[in-house]
Formats: sequence, C-alpha cells, structure tokens
Amino acid sequence: MVTTLDRRGLLIRAAGLAGLALTPAAWTPALAQARLPDDPFTLGVASGDPAPDGMVLWTRLAPKPLDPDGGMSPAPVAVSWEIAEDPGLKRVVARGETLAVAEAAHSVHVEVAGLKPDRDYWYRFRAGGHASETGRTRTTPAPGAEVSRLRIAYGSCQKYEAGYYGAYPHLVADAPDLVLFLGDYIYEKAASDNGVRRHPPVDATDLATYRQRYGLYKSDPNLRAAHAAAPWMVIWDDHEVSNDYGDDQDRSNPDPAVFLARRAAGYQAYYEHMPLRRRSIPVGPRMLLHRSLDWGRLAQLQFLDTRQYRAHRTCDAIAEGKMIPDCAERRDPERSLLGAAQERWLFDTLDRSQAGWNVLAQQYLMGDLQRLDGRYSNDGWGGYFQTRQRVLERWRDAKVANPVALGGDIHTFFAGDLPLEAGGKPIGSEFVGGSISSLGWKNAELRPVLEHNPNLKFGDGEVRGYGLVELTPKTCSVAFRGLESALVPQSPIRDLARFVVEAGEPGLKTA
Ligand SMILES: [Fe+2]
Repeated sequence: MVTTLDRRGLLIRAAGLAGLALTPAAWTPALAQARLPDDPFTLGVASGDPAPDGMVLWTRLAPKPLDPDGGMSPAPVAVSWEIAEDPGLKRVVARGETLAVAEAAHSVHVEVAGLKPDRDYWYRFRAGGHASETGRTRTTPAPGAEVSRLRIAYGSCQKYEAGYYGAYPHLVADAPDLVLFLGDYIYEKAASDNGVRRHPPVDATDLATYRQRYGLYKSDPNLRAAHAAAPWMVIWDDHEVSNDYGDDQDRSNPDPAVFLARRAAGYQAYYEHMPLRRRSIPVGPRMLLHRSLDWGRLAQLQFLDTRQYRAHRTCDAIAEGKMIPDCAERRDPERSLLGAAQERWLFDTLDRSQAGWNVLAQQYLMGDLQRLDGRYSNDGWGGYFQTRQRVLERWRDAKVANPVALGGDIHTFFAGDLPLEAGGKPIGSEFVGGSISSLGWKNAELRPVLEHNPNLKFGDGEVRGYGLVELTPKTCSVAFRGLESALVPQSPIRDLARFVVEAGEPGLKTA
C-alpha cells in the first residue's frame, strides 16, 4: 500500500496555499467535520499522463458547476482517493488524501506512483460525505517491454453548441488503452442562436467564465463517461483561450499585455480541468504542455504545443482573413510554429526514440493544403512552412522509425502522406480529425481541393466522429469512425474509411 502525503503535511501545505494563519491543530477538526450538502462530483473523474508505475487521477468538487465558484465555499476540503486492481475496489493497492482548494477551483490532481506496469486499475474519490463514480485507468508497459498491441482513440473540436457528444459512447465501446484529445476541448464564444445547445451568454475571458465553460462542457454525461473509461493525454489548440491566437497575439485583443492576462486565465482553467501532472501547473501566462509518452518498445507519442511559442502571423497585410498567398515570409526559416526550445526538445526526443512507431500528436493537418486560389491558412503548419520541413527532415535524417502524425483543428477527416516536396516519396503519413461536434467543410467544396493536393488521399468534412488507431509491431491501422448525426444525442456509427501503414514501408494504403 502506498500512502502519499500524510494528513499533517497536507494541512500545512494547504494553509500556505490558502494563505491561512491557522495552525494545523486549530483546523483539523473543521476539516474532519466538513460535510457537503450536495454531490460535489458532478464533473466526474478522469485520469491521464500514464506511466509504467502510475498516472494522474483528477476530479473537481463542484456541486453547482455553472456557478462561478462551482457552488463551493472558499474553505479547503479534504478529498480521499483509492486505487484498486478490481472494478469493485476490493483489492486497494494505494490510497491517500489531498486537499481541494478554492485557488484551484477545488480541483485535485493526484500523482499515483508505485503501481505495476501494463495493467488496468480502478479508482474513486470521497469528499464531504460523498463518493465519486469509479473510473478505470491503466499504466503503460515497462520501459523497453515488447508489446503486441496499442489501441488509441483520438478526438478534437467539441463545440458544445454545434452538436451532441454521441461519439463518446462508441469511443468507450471501442475500449481504447489511451484517449488523445488534440485541442478545442471548449470554445470560448458566447451563445449563438443557431446551435443545438447553448453556450453561456458571454465570451469566456477570465477565470470565472473559463471555469464556467468547463463546468458546462464537463456536465455532459457522454464526455464524463469517456474520461472515466481510459487515461487521456490532452493538448490544447486555440479555442481553449481565443480563436486563432498565437504567443501574445490575438485577433480580438490588440494589446499583448491584456491578452496575456486572458491567456493566463485560460491556461489556469485548462489545468484545473485536465488530468495533468504538476509539471504543467501554470505560472502566469506560461504552462508546460509538450511531452512524450512511451508504450514499451512498440510506440512513442510526442505531444506538441503549437500555440504558446509560435512566431507571430505573417503576410497579414496582403491576406484576406487568415488565408495568405505563398509569400516569402511563410518560408522564413527564422519563424517557428513550435518555438526554438520546443523544436530542440522534439528533435532530441526523436533522436533518442527506440520505438517501433513514432506518433506525433499535434493540432493540425501537417501536409500541404493549398486552396484553388493558391492560398494557405496561416494558422497551422501552412503559415510555418519551414517548421514542417524541419520535422520531416529530422524524421528522415535521424531514421525515426515509422512516423505517423495525428491532428485535429480542421473539423474534417483527412488522410494523407507527408513528402518533403510535392509528389516526392512519403516520409510519414497523417490522419486528421474529424471533430467530435464542430462543423466542417462541405464535401462539394472539398473535392476539388483534394484533387489539387495529391498528398491528401481522403477527405470528408460532413461527418463528425473520431479516429481509432491500432498499432502492432507490423502495422498501424486507422479507422475514421463517423457518426450518422451529431445533431441528436445518440446516433449509430460506422467506419467512414480505413487505412493501414505497414512498418518499414512509408505511405498509407486504403484498407
Ligand atoms: Fe476546432
């Protein structure tokens, strides 16, 4: 049995966090007596960032999740947790107690260690006389272990107003080992009139309104169930803060100082609602999100943050909106989508990888998507041409085994190959999208664009859903799982398309 911090240590820490002058002896009885009148576990439970010996367990106490304070008083609340080898939580292998404090919206992030590699665990929290639902999670295989299979489900872009989360019950039924969420977990805009559900009446711009937005999204039972079913690895895109932002540059807010205060609030609320490790605790407008995850020798996943460190947009003066011509600045090698430090980290990580598959989990379509008028979106890799070239060159020059990119953002399913120049030999392949609920391209407009960009082998913007990836030492199989409709709460699903990449043979094949 592993017990993390002792109660006295926790109380002292909490007093520091909450700025309290009370001695532990003075307030232990108050905590022990704390009873919450209403169920505080309305936002469910989650786990994430798994390792061979543990993972993060997450919950947030919020009996009234749409209230600015979640319906909690400012006092800290003791939260106990336990993790077991069985779904009935009879064989408990670790337990402990932590404190939920108002400064973190009464969220808790427990980093469990000391578990066995490559197996399922079940966990539960208790607070104020209530118990949470039980979540299922798992550890990753031991470092270097031979692994025969890894099943990953990945999704992105779940605008609450645009549809229901009918994809998630199917994702849960697909029983993934790991779920990736590749950005746009929330959307920040105020309610519009044309959705199937409604946002709050104001844009999310500060801590209270971002927290409220996560409270709304996480009150969806299908999303909650998906978090309780498997460990998640999360990265953000723009809408967790503001549409199309990059670094300190924001379309709706020309003053960088004002925008950075908003970004700090968005990052803080993101951390509070995601199962992230302590290394990701935000410091002002900065938060560390890029990281890698090993699955034995079978696979390594590298997770990118393409928003926080990117160079400012370019060619704006000659652009209409975010669509830019093939201007010289687009190809400026000094401009990076990742920032110099993250690029160095990525290349060092790729150089060291011993994995059979290298999965780049990031926000966008990586390959060329030139519009019929010759323009590119400057919001993703298209606006940072040389960054993509450097990644592809590193894959090639460091002999990175079997690189595959997964992406989101574009609300459209795309499958394609990634050559260094148009028509060249593929170095890797990519599988993008589609979206859980956000609306995408019309296929009639998409078809000629696909023909114009022969690296793209498949596209469909009219179907909502997620991707399912099955890795074995020999193959990477991908299914695009497409809902019949996201405009109703429950919908059948089918495989919209299936692909396979064979180890040692770059380029995707239709399966
Ligand atoms: Fe999106």
